[in-house]
Amino acid sequence: MKPLIVLNLKTYLEGTGEGAVRIARACKEVGGASGIEIAIAPQFCDIYRVASQVDVPVYSQHLDGVGAGSFTGHAFAKCIKDAGAVGTLINHSECRLKLADIEASVTAAKGEGLRTIICTNNIATTAAAAALGPDYVAVEPPELIGSGIPVSKADPEVVTGSVAAVERIDTAVKVLCGAGISKGEDLKAAIELGSVGVLLASGIVKAKDPKAALEDLVSLI
Ligand code: G3P
Repeated sequence: MKPLIVLNLKTYLEGTGEGAVRIARACKEVGGASGIEIAIAPQFCDIYRVASQVDVPVYSQHLDGVGAGSFTGHAFAKCIKDAGAVGTLINHSECRLKLADIEASVTAAKGEGLRTIICTNNIATTAAAAALGPDYVAVEPPELIGSGIPVSKADPEVVTGSVAAVERIDTAVKVLCGAGISKGEDLKAAIELGSVGVLLASGIVKAKDPKAALEDLVSLI
């Protein structure tokens, strides 16, 4: 199976507005040349801008489990879908939710046919997330996020342990890992540990040349 790479732009300036479109074009080019799916998760206000200009899978960075109606200031699944997203992150370490809210977000996203990636911080929360039936869980030890130290090297057990835990709960759920991933060897190690891909950010978004950084990332697959 070809891996999935999801590039989270967070609120990095380099990945905001036209920067998001530029990086999305790099994802499309490198993804197209390598045959590897490289999806992008821009900020809410950039979803339509990116999805309407670049033929690349777009994910929301968050989604609230609310329906249509009297809900001010929420990220509503239908609006996210209509803006052009195909999926969403849920419960990112930088946007944590309560368990009941995670479940509501998964249900709302599925109701619109959006793919779901629940982010987790350790093996126990990965197991809990898998029980909610998302398409993916993405395990990311918070202390390694933005560190440049890849989880696949610094904490391989959290990846293998997450894969084993998910297998026991729901074999349809796939595991991604993230935090500190930026190089081809990091992605290769992540795959060897049993994950199907990576969720990453700073190593690409803040690189001098994001396209070259993406080419390096996929170079050993
Ligand atoms: O969502 C991806 C993330 O939290 C990992 O960030 O900068 O360590 O790749 P980074």
